[in-house]
Amino acid sequence: VWINIAKLGTGIFLFDKYIVVKSASSLKVFSNKCTHAGCRINKEINGQLVCPCHGSHYDSLTGKVLQGPAGLPLSTIPFSTDAKTGEIIIKI
Ligand code: FES
Repeated sequence: VWINIAKLGTGIFLFDKYIVVKSASSLKVFSNKCTHAGCRINKEINGQLVCPCHGSHYDSLTGKVLQGPAGLPLSTIPFSTDAKTGEIIIKI
């Protein structure tokens, strides 16, 4: 599935399969699958992405683990920008 995320404002957006972290100067897209046991990350607290299953915390800017039990950072999802239309496309 191809999704255009260009219309999102700035902030942290948690979707079913991905998380978009967008500021004026940067854009990150992460898988929202927790690297511990695969639960869907569904919460953001003070810039940290929190897994509901066993409480892992990830840094929303980098995807790095701040608190376990997860040991690996969140996977990033690549995106491409169309210079003509301004669309920002991710494929999931
Ligand atoms: Fe996320 Fe265990 S599945 S902390």
